[in-house]
Amino acid sequence: MAIASRSTPTTPDILTYIQRHFSAEDEFLSMLRQEALDAGFPEIWIAPEQGAFLQVLLRCMGARHVLEIGTLAGYSAIIMARALPETGRIVTVERDPERAAFARRAVERAGLLGKVVVECADAREWLHTLRPSDPLDFVFIDADKLSYGIYLDLSLPLVRVGGIICGDNALAWGEIASDSEDLDVQALRAFNWHMATHPQLQCCLVPLGDGMLIGVRLW
Ligand SMILES: C[S@@+](CC[C@H](N)C(=O)[O-])C[C@H]1O[C@@H](n2cnc3c(N)ncnc32)[C@H](O)[C@@H]1O
Repeated sequence: MAIASRSTPTTPDILTYIQRHFSAEDEFLSMLRQEALDAGFPEIWIAPEQGAFLQVLLRCMGARHVLEIGTLAGYSAIIMARALPETGRIVTVERDPERAAFARRAVERAGLLGKVVVECADAREWLHTLRPSDPLDFVFIDADKLSYGIYLDLSLPLVRVGGIICGDNALAWGEIASDSEDLDVQALRAFNWHMATHPQLQCCLVPLGDGMLIGVRLW
């Protein structure tokens, strides 16, 4: 069955337009990206327009308790922290000590030490021990793709009803609908399916950056 579509493809001109007008990136974040590149980090942080979307979402929800799985240089954590109220907190977990240390320094320079905690741990183990004092409003999953399903299962019980789980790379670098047998692509397909069919979630896929799968907890 053909599905009617009026979707506009994101051409390079349209992407430039979106990034020019709807980006969360300021001079500090642009400098941070450059420093992370200079430090040899892979260029796998979210796109600036994804940052703007995350900030709008967090503000709409009045989010105060955020968990991020996958910190890298702290780029997305800083973006999200900026959209939280003074009493808001984000805990971001990163297994690589060098990256965690880099992110902590970035958070300090951003003046966000009171809002962002960078945990250095393997999220697959650490999440089993996490007992947040308040239910989570928002979880951003952006670490190893093979473990996305585990992250969903471990974090969903910690999320309040009406809270959101968001998985990055929902389009699997453009391969989500291809016949690629790459293990990361397969894992993302399985995660998307798990989210889409989860009885406690209502989901949508936002095709910004490499795609963001958003699921709101219903009960
Ligand atoms: C895509 S990057 C995160 C980008 C970041 N969210 C941003 O947009 O600025 C993924 C990060 O997750 C980390 N990671 C991978 N597997 C992990 C695990 N099991 N536990 C914690 N961190 C992990 C990697 O070391 C990497 O730095």
